[in-house]
Amino acid sequence: MAYRWKNTLKDRDVTPEHLYMNRRHVIGAAMAGLALSGLSTPARAEDEELVPTDWEDITSYNNFYEFGTGKDDPKKFAHMLTTEPWSVKIDGMVDRPGDYAFDDILSKMTIEERIYRFRCVERWAMIVPWNGFELADLLDLAGVQSSAKYVAFETAMRPDEMPGLSRPVIEWPYVEGLRMDEAMHPLTMIATGIYGRDIPNQNGAPLRLVVPWKYGYKSIKSIVRITLTDEEPPTAWNKYAPREYGFYSNVNPNRSHPRWSQEVEQLIGSGLFARKIPTQMFNGYEEEVARLYEGMDLIKFH
Ligand code: MTE
Repeated sequence: MAYRWKNTLKDRDVTPEHLYMNRRHVIGAAMAGLALSGLSTPARAEDEELVPTDWEDITSYNNFYEFGTGKDDPKKFAHMLTTEPWSVKIDGMVDRPGDYAFDDILSKMTIEERIYRFRCVERWAMIVPWNGFELADLLDLAGVQSSAKYVAFETAMRPDEMPGLSRPVIEWPYVEGLRMDEAMHPLTMIATGIYGRDIPNQNGAPLRLVVPWKYGYKSIKSIVRITLTDEEPPTAWNKYAPREYGFYSNVNPNRSHPRWSQEVEQLIGSGLFARKIPTQMFNGYEEEVARLYEGMDLIKFH
């Protein structure tokens, strides 16, 4: 069942964890004189399946290969990453290219909470209460030119702070990309928090992409560069294994990974008893995004 993303924000059923507001976010939003609607209105999933995954699971079972390939490596080593100060270079086909300081970006954005389903290509899934803003709002800051057709993203590459970089697991830096209409879609967000707290380093501090209808590897972490371009940008996993990982990477139960079926997924959170549930087309966001791919062969363009 599709998660109705904005309409499920409710005033009731508050847990203290949801209410916690960190200083950085509060200051950022307050400086811009914006209402803290998203943060102060705790979200609740109407469907039992969409009860958010525990903080502990979201922040200790991770993929962030710059810190190692084990699921617990990011939590062990990501504290080595310096996230303050942080800036993002926005360049290419924009009117206002430059280095954008993270704190300046935050001060101009409205932070809201959105509970999204999150589906990794490896078949595990979570439900994450993200805090953040729409990518479209960030791109508007830089002024996207009409010639731009794609957005390319790049993760920080700091060998001294990221022990996983010493091994050529994939070609570093981690890169990702979206088509312009995907990037501008209102579901596409830049996350800066989880459960109302600053996003932990292992989840991609201080800012990471979230595209809820695509496999998790599209949500590139700890972004340092965003480039607007008119050519389809290379992506880390497509370069590694083009037959297995395409540019689009939309969640699709009908398109098997060459080495495993994608028909079911396992909801993290119940330990050994993690539940297996059917994978949904576009991860449950079909109603919102199917029109972006009308007429496209979703098996070929995977
Ligand atoms: N971004 C970078 N820079 N490096 C990575 O290894 N892993 C991706 C994605 N973003 C990854 C990354 C993969 S495979 C997944 S499933 C998600 O991050 C995992 O996000 P999470 O650890 O917050 O659940």
